[in-house]
Amino acid sequence: MAVERIVDPQQHDEPDEQVQEEQRIENVLRPKVFDDYVGQERVKKVLKVGIEAAKKRGEPLDHILLYGPPGLGKTTLANIIANEMGAQIRVTSGPAIDRAADLASILTNLGDGDVLFIDEIHRLNRSVEEVLYSAMEDYAIDIMLGKGPSARSLRLDVPKFTLIGATTRTGALAAPLRDRFGMLHRLEYYKPEEIASIVQRSAKLLDSEVHPEAASTLSNRSRLTPRIANRLLKRVRDYADVNGDGIIDTKITTEALRELEIDEHGLDTADRMLLSAIIDNHGGGPVGLNTLAAVLGDEVSTVEDFYEPYLMQIGFLERTPRGRKATPKAYKHMGKESPEVSKSSSQEKLL
Ligand SMILES: Nc1ncnc2c1ncn2[C@@H]1O[C@H](COP(=O)(O)OP(=O)(O)OP(=O)(O)O)[C@@H](O)[C@H]1O
Ligand SMILES: [Mg+2]
Repeated sequence: MAVERIVDPQQHDEPDEQVQEEQRIENVLRPKVFDDYVGQERVKKVLKVGIEAAKKRGEPLDHILLYGPPGLGKTTLANIIANEMGAQIRVTSGPAIDRAADLASILTNLGDGDVLFIDEIHRLNRSVEEVLYSAMEDYAIDIMLGKGPSARSLRLDVPKFTLIGATTRTGALAAPLRDRFGMLHRLEYYKPEEIASIVQRSAKLLDSEVHPEAASTLSNRSRLTPRIANRLLKRVRDYADVNGDGIIDTKITTEALRELEIDEHGLDTADRMLLSAIIDNHGGGPVGLNTLAAVLGDEVSTVEDFYEPYLMQIGFLERTPRGRKATPKAYKHMGKESPEVSKSSSQEKLL
């Protein structure tokens, strides 16, 4: 069993109490309109134009694929899009749609202009995916009635809906599915000042006071990810209530984060274990993905989707065809001398 991580950007679906509480707060903090959705300016601009044009023409919006690391605001954005279209949204996910008939029933129950949001769309199975193709393209589906020689297919019209798909991995999406989206938007990691403003917004909604420097400390340790920023804010707020007068200043924030073992870059014990495995046990790499997953006791896909993107974003990790390598920056962070740096300094000595 892998360690539980406070900086885990994933949202878990086990119905445990803490998870339910987290989801409740997540909904309270979730922006409902573009104006409250911080950052992602380029994506917002294109979407706003698309929405306005669709409204003017009285047509449904193009199908939209949102992709990028977890916790960056895909679900939030899907809800905002529906809201700004004045449309109803129906939310489901790839693994939740088992059979083609399930999808057929979802589709035929939509209204014209409705938004269908499919989270983790890369996990749809083949037969379901095929039904989706014709629904997306022709607003019609073919369903099979009966079995064996007497089986016949029936074409059914479905309402003119907009599909919004979300995925953390576009690579896992079948090309015919990807090609049927009119818009593909990649969500990027946020800038530290954007995360700081999300922290301030969330604090206000939670009736807490956060000093500006404390907001920026939090933002630097939130892996540039709104979900983690909100989660850390909540933990620091608890800490401030118990150990202070509830006001979140830099001192309280630093103490709380030290207790949570989150360092200045937002790395936790598991990240440091990963870096240490590469640096201390494998001479800086390259190390195969399977080895790293074994060290962490996690799935290969978890390492790929959840640990690596952020470590690469901050320049600590390199993916090479032969495996993962730690960069000089990672060595420095871990308090080790990088072989590349020592090579160049010994060259300097020779000169
Ligand atoms: N741009 C934003 N501005 C303010 N808050 C945001 C923004 N994006 C996300 N959040 C906050 O972060 C939380 C997580 O966002 P969301 O659930 O939309 O992420 P996600 O990309 O769908 O993640 P996953 O891939 O795990 O489904 C939300 O509760 C929301 O409050
Ligand atoms: Mg989501």
